[in-house]
Amino acid sequence: MRMKKIIVTIDGPAGAGKSTTARHVAERLGYLYIDSGAMYRAITLAALRKGTPLDDTALGELASECEIHMEPTFEGQRVFLNREDVTVAIRESSVTSNVSQVSAFPKVRWALVQRQRGLGLNGGVVMDGRDIGSVVFPHAEVKVFLVADTDERIRRRLAEAQERGEQIDADHVRQQIIGRDKLDSERQESPLVKPEGATEIDTTSLTIEDQVERILELVRGYQKTYELVSLFTNL
Ligand code: DC
Repeated sequence: MRMKKIIVTIDGPAGAGKSTTARHVAERLGYLYIDSGAMYRAITLAALRKGTPLDDTALGELASECEIHMEPTFEGQRVFLNREDVTVAIRESSVTSNVSQVSAFPKVRWALVQRQRGLGLNGGVVMDGRDIGSVVFPHAEVKVFLVADTDERIRRRLAEAQERGEQIDADHVRQQIIGRDKLDSERQESPLVKPEGATEIDTTSLTIEDQVERILELVRGYQKTYELVSLFTNL
């Protein structure tokens, strides 16, 4: 069968299961997995460390200067900011509390969207985020929008924090998730929306394997159609 190296986009709110699902889908396809949220987190970390004022010009400049680099490993993706491994630091609560505000600035988004598009230039990529199917790759071959109940998303965040050995309060996580949902979906620039043509999957009571399988099914469906069209048009 003739396989095309395609782009798979996975968008949705925090805790919907995007990153784990995207990573597994990429592994199964032999594709590159890119966590676009990690890029916004890296800029937020840089801004907090430098004390950059939270305005469009200053943050836009910072975003264009910072070198962000992702490296897939067996344990997951490692993230580097100006060559320093910040994989753990970008998950700290101070970053999580500020990232929605930083990512709402148009110049920050513009700088990162250019890089994300560059990473998808040759296809063979699974990218997750908030605007990947709507803004970064509106012509992606497979687009998915993951959703889940708020209580379930909070439960997942708490479990992740526990796994990392962090002590966090359930009410604090609830406020963070609800606050980020609001900021991410109500901002002017590239808000979180279900992208046109995306398949919505509610992950509340699905296992990761179910989620991965549903997305792989969409990919197989696309490849089948592509093969038929290629046969008839002799591409
Ligand atoms: O997926 P995450 O929770 O690590 O994302 C962190 C923040 O980054 C999220 O609250 C909104 C922002 N983000 C974004 O605006 N656009 C993306 N494509 C990815 C993340």
